[in-house]
Amino acid sequence: MRSSAGRKICQVRFKMENSNLQDKNILLGITGSIAAYKSAEVIRLLRKRKAKVYPIMTRAATNFVHPVTFQSLASQEVVLDSFSKNKEIKHISLSSLADLFLIAPATANVIGKIACGIADDILTTTVLACQSPVLIAPAMNHRMWINPILQQNVKKLKSLGFKFVGPMKGKLASGEVGEGRMSEPSQIVDYVEKIFSFEKDFRGKTFLITAGPTRERLDRVRFLSNYSTGKMGYALAEEGKLRGAKIILISGPTFLNVPSGVEFYRVESAEQMKSCVIEKFPEVDGVIMAAAVADFTPLKKERGKIKKDKGEKIFLELKRTPDILAKLGRIKQDKILVGFCAETKDLEKEAKKKLKLKNLDLIVANNISSPGAGFAVDTNVVSLIDKKGEVKSFPKLTKREVAEKIWDKIKEMENQP
Ligand SMILES: Cc1cc2nc3c(=O)[nH]c(=O)nc-3n(C[C@H](O)[C@H](O)[C@H](O)COP(=O)(O)O)c2cc1C
Repeated sequence: MRSSAGRKICQVRFKMENSNLQDKNILLGITGSIAAYKSAEVIRLLRKRKAKVYPIMTRAATNFVHPVTFQSLASQEVVLDSFSKNKEIKHISLSSLADLFLIAPATANVIGKIACGIADDILTTTVLACQSPVLIAPAMNHRMWINPILQQNVKKLKSLGFKFVGPMKGKLASGEVGEGRMSEPSQIVDYVEKIFSFEKDFRGKTFLITAGPTRERLDRVRFLSNYSTGKMGYALAEEGKLRGAKIILISGPTFLNVPSGVEFYRVESAEQMKSCVIEKFPEVDGVIMAAAVADFTPLKKERGKIKKDKGEKIFLELKRTPDILAKLGRIKQDKILVGFCAETKDLEKEAKKKLKLKNLDLIVANNISSPGAGFAVDTNVVSLIDKKGEVKSFPKLTKREVAEKIWDKIKEMENQP
C-alpha cells in the first residue's frame, strides 16, 4: 500500500517539475454555461502547473459564478464584458500577452460568434485579435451539440486551426445523457500542456511541403490541371509551423491565403515545381509532397490560342512530367520523405507499391472515392503506411486533424532508432 502511494506521489512530482506551463500566460475565457463552476478547478490546476491565468468572463457567465471566485483563484483581476474599463486597449494588450487562449466552458453562442468573426464583447474581440493558439472546450446540451449549424461552426473553426477538447458523452445538467458535457478540468489542462509540447517538438527542423495542383499549359489561354485545392498541404504547413518547424511551402495555383511565417514559393507547372523543390532540398530535414502534380504535360505548347476551326476533333500528344518524388527518393539519404497516394481502388496495395518504388518513409493513402475524402473538401479519410508496413487508418477527419496525425507519425518515426 505504502509503496504504491509513494510511487504515485513521485509520478505527480515528476509531472510538475517537468510542466511546460511554467510562466505561460493563459487567457481563460469563461462563458454562460452551467459548467462555468468547473473553470475554478481549471484555474487551480493551471496555477498548480505554474501558469499565469487571466480570466475573461462574458456577461452571461457572471450569472453562474461571481467573478470574485475566479479573481481569488487566479490572483488576477477578472476582465469583464464591460466598456467601463477601457475595453479598446485591453483586448489588444491581453491578446498580445497570451501564449494561449483557452475558452472553458464555451457556449454554442460563443462558438457561433467566433466562427462568424463577430466581436461584440471583450472575449470575442480578444479572440479576433489573438495570434496565439485558441483551445475551445465546448459545453452544452446534446441537442445543441448535434445541431448542424453548431457542427458547421466547429468544422470551420477546426479547419482554421482552432483546437477543441471534448465535449464528452455523459450526464448533462438537464439530467439527460448525451454528448455535450464539458471535458474534465484535468483533461483540459493536459490538453493545454500537449499544445505547448507540440509547439516544441519540431523546433530546429526545416520541412518542405508542396501543395495544390500544377497547371500544364496547352496554349495561351488553356491548361490541363486537376481538382486539388491545396487545402491538405496548407493545413500541413500551418500545423508544422505551430509545432515549431521552419516551413518552406511550394504551392501550385490555389485560392488560399498564404500562411503567415512560412517561406513561400508560387509555381505553376510540374517542371517549375521540380526545379524549386530540388533547389530547396539541401536545406531541409524532410519533405511532404502533398501537391497533386500533373503526371502528363502537352508535348507541344501552342504560342497563341488553338483555334476551334482546326476541325471536329483535335489530338493532344502528352509526355510524362518529371517524377519529383522518385527523384527525391534517389537522393534523400537520411531525410524524411512523405508522399501521398490518391486512388479509387486497390488503395493499400497501390500505396505500398509506391512507398517501396519511390523509397518513401511514409505514404498517406487517400481513397478519393469515399465521401468526404480527396480533392476540394475540408475533410479527408486516410491511412498512414510506413516503410515497416504498419498501417494506421483513421475515420473522416478535417484536413487540419489529418495534418496533426501526419506530424505525429513523423515524430514517432524520428524517435525510432
Ligand atoms: C441555466 C442555464 C444554463 C445554460 N447552459 C448553457 C450551456 O451549458 N451551454 C450553452 O451553450 N448555453 C447555455 N445556456 C445559454 C447561454 O447562457 C446563452 O446562450 C448566453 O447567451 C450565452 O452567452 P455567452 O456565450 O456570451 O456567454 C444556459 C442558459 C441558462 C439559463
